[in-house]
Parts: sequence; structure tokens; C-alpha cells
Amino acid sequence: MRIGIGADHGGFVLKEAVIKAIESLGHEYKDYGTYSEESCDYPDYALKVAAAVKSGEVDRGILLCGTGIGICIAANKVKGIRCGHVTDVFSAKATAAHNDANIISMGGRITSPELAQEIVKAYLTTPFESGRHQRRIDKITAIENNN
Ligand code: RB5
Repeated sequence: MRIGIGADHGGFVLKEAVIKAIESLGHEYKDYGTYSEESCDYPDYALKVAAAVKSGEVDRGILLCGTGIGICIAANKVKGIRCGHVTDVFSAKATAAHNDANIISMGGRITSPELAQEIVKAYLTTPFESGRHQRRIDKITAIENNN
């Protein structure tokens, strides 16, 4: 798989650890920035990665900001994006299996590099379970299309 990564200055600290986890699983990555700890605006990076996932330029995305929340909210404004904000391994597996999340987000001020690597591994190795979960995702898509 090809994984798009995006971060603001608050998430920059986790980027290296996330890249190592992606590479250790044999996947490729594309880094959409930011490239330093200089202050910047998380919606810009959310949009770059969300657009790349939506267009198929990458298969999935990982977004990082201080909390992982702002960048998640922004990414979820892009049609077709299901970004799960994740702080633990159970949620990482659940958002892959139940929500078919095409992006996850984490917080550089919340999650340690070691835990972030476990989360990335859990997310990228857990398949979508489909069945009743597909029905629920179809309902999310209907909300998106009607509002
Ligand atoms: C930036 O200071 C911070 O607000 C941002 O990284 C993120 O935590 C927003 O949700």
C-alpha cells in the first residue's frame, strides 16, 4: 500500500516514528509535510492528504497534529473521507474493521512515538469486516450526500 502522511508543527514530532512503522510493514509512504516544527495550520495538511486519498494517489492516510483532533475534523470535511481519531491500539483496529477508516489521526502531544508505531501497525494490518458495518457506512455516505 501507499500511505500519505501529513502533519502540522504539533504532530511533526511523531512523523519519523510513523514513517518507520509504515516501512517496517513493507509499505510505501508519501510525505505531504509539514517539514519542520515552525507553526503552521493543520487544515492545509489535512486537505493535502484527504485529497490524495480521495483521488487514489495514495491508498490510506495518517494525519498528525497536537491532539489529532483538529486535523481529523478538517479531513472529515472532504467527501468520501472517513478519518478516525485514535489514541490506543483497540481503537486503531476498530476503526479499520468497523468504520473502514481511510485515514487515522493521532496527536503528537498525546501519543508517544512507541504507541504511535503500535497504532499504525494495528491500523494497517486490520481488514474491514464489511457486513453490517458496510450498511452503517452506507448511511454515513447518505448523510454526506444529503447535507
Ligand atoms: C496547534 O497548536 C494545535 O492547535 C494543533 O496542532 C491541533 O492540536 C489542533 O487540533
